[in-house]
Amino acid sequence: MAGLFDKQAETYLQARPTYPSEWYSMLAAHTSHHSLAWDVGTGNGQAALGVAEHYEQVIATDVSEGQLSFAMPHPRVRYVHTPESMTEDEMVALMGGENRVDLITVATAVHWFDLTKFYKLAKRLLRKPGGIIAVWTYNDVVVGPEFNTISERLREKLSHFRSADANYAIDGYRNLPFPFESVGLGHEGQPMQLEIPKELLFEGYLKLVKSSSAFVLAKEQGVDLLSEEVIEELESSWGGPSEVRTVTFKVFMLAGTVAK
Ligand SMILES: C[S@@+](CC[C@H](N)C(=O)[O-])C[C@H]1O[C@@H](n2cnc3c(N)ncnc32)[C@H](O)[C@@H]1O
Repeated sequence: MAGLFDKQAETYLQARPTYPSEWYSMLAAHTSHHSLAWDVGTGNGQAALGVAEHYEQVIATDVSEGQLSFAMPHPRVRYVHTPESMTEDEMVALMGGENRVDLITVATAVHWFDLTKFYKLAKRLLRKPGGIIAVWTYNDVVVGPEFNTISERLREKLSHFRSADANYAIDGYRNLPFPFESVGLGHEGQPMQLEIPKELLFEGYLKLVKSSSAFVLAKEQGVDLLSEEVIEELESSWGGPSEVRTVTFKVFMLAGTVAK
């Protein structure tokens, strides 16, 4: 899994949306203390930096050294490479012990995790009472009716290379197990829906497709889903290479606390 993310790290950085700063204020308003946060699957650290505005210290971890090599330094963020071989007790030690983490964030990543293992660890680490875990993902970018009809065909082809884990994201986390008590920001089976608008050139859209795990997996199997023909059709529907379009990323969030 780390290898898959290593390969797309640079493309990923250029194409993905930035999460709005209000989301971090909203989450911080729900934790009783603001001492320690853990951003898991941090990638280039964008959520870690947002969280750092509200917490004294953020530990930001990822299994992929490739992703971490693009991480943005911040005086309150400590990036740590955590290979999948790390044990639960080693992770607890890294965070300074149980019951200490005020906020755990997992941005567009939890669907790749071993959920049983991760949730058990999260429950040990979260401050009780008062700590919360928030997971979110985007699953699609809405461009406009005509373009969406064409891009839907590409999505369908990509779906054959998608792993079961990615389906949690495609389904907007509606089927994602989330064994935490609701804090009013989405709950198991009913995520909170959010949106991120972004201005994009066609080149950016292509980078987005190329950074998807399904595209990378297809390529590894010798299938290039972005043939010249497909690119031309999409680009023409987009309005050309210099056309800037405002697109909308659909986001699904679940947040919760450890049940008493
Ligand atoms: C789609 S990226 C999201 C990165 C960042 N959170 C963001 O929203 O921009 C998913 C990240 O999860 C990491 N990841 C996947 N499985 C992981 C695991 N079991 N533990 C920690 N990180 C993991 C990947 O290496 C990758 O950096």
